[in-house]
Amino acid sequence: MSLETPQPHFIQLHQHDQQAVRAELLTGLAQMPARVAPKFLYDALGSRLFDAITELAEYYPTRTEALIFSQRGGDMARCIAPGSVLIDLGAGSCAKAARLFAPLQPAAYVAVDISVDYLRASLGALQQRHLGLPMLGLGQDFSSELALPEAALRWLSTQGAAAAPRTVFYPGSSIGNFTPPEALKLLRQAHALCVGGGSGGGLLIGVDRVKPKAVLEPAYDDALGVTAAFNRNLLLHVNRVLGANFDPAQWDHVALFDEAQSRIEMHLQARSALAVQWPQGERRFAAGERIHTENSYKWTPEAFAALLSEAGFAPATQWTDSQGWFSVFWAPAT
Ligand code: AVI
Repeated sequence: MSLETPQPHFIQLHQHDQQAVRAELLTGLAQMPARVAPKFLYDALGSRLFDAITELAEYYPTRTEALIFSQRGGDMARCIAPGSVLIDLGAGSCAKAARLFAPLQPAAYVAVDISVDYLRASLGALQQRHLGLPMLGLGQDFSSELALPEAALRWLSTQGAAAAPRTVFYPGSSIGNFTPPEALKLLRQAHALCVGGGSGGGLLIGVDRVKPKAVLEPAYDDALGVTAAFNRNLLLHVNRVLGANFDPAQWDHVALFDEAQSRIEMHLQARSALAVQWPQGERRFAAGERIHTENSYKWTPEAFAALLSEAGFAPATQWTDSQGWFSVFWAPAT
């Protein structure tokens, strides 16, 4: 008998391309109005600030979704094939998926995040608590392409899980940070991923619902100013990448619900006329001019069910909380 402790396996696909990142930032800053992609919110400090946001009284999505999982987890487990491969999109700390191990009894766990470096510590610790569960950390930018690479398929075969159903898990309403056409593309790819495994696979996804502005706007503009710091910190990240001289103190945090587009928009608004420089470039901003930093789309249950069906999924089952603020959908792939 081997006394070796099982270790997670890691595959890194996404290669960080500093030139491409700089070019993307410069293109966005040259636009009218200027834009910076929301991924720049998540440097090391930004990720910590986001964790703090999830603890705020005003930010209801994280705890509302957790309540739905704790109250309805048994019903969910009855819908989902036992012994599936659990594929966790944007896994991070892997904490949400780990709570599903007992009810779902997966055959293998695949944690997907942009960098396996983010996954090494969390997956290593998780493996010690679940010695019998094969674990794979996959470094992939699934926002541009979601599919299991050959190396991951080979790993599944070595674990005897190549023909197991696949449960794609995408919690946290991160789907809301994509425009509806982008969300549809991602859901179609998730559907293809599910049908690539044995029958019985599907998508378990958390989605934030449309609700009154009086609830939505404080969730993105809290009294302590944590979300404002999260938004302003993006400028420090941009400074590091471009060698720019944005001064966060010169920018106001703005978070507004646009009912027509059904989305929260986050912006940074110049307090006065400003010029920001970087090597070989600058951008002037008039007082009140904004940089658009994030969208967070809110869905009605009917519109999201229709999007799932357009992506190829069979009719979904849905669970919600007592206020009807958040939905968890189980969408079978066949
Ligand atoms: C990660 N994502 C689902 C969060 C949201 O609610 O859109 C990001 C966030 N932005 C500000 N607060 C939280």
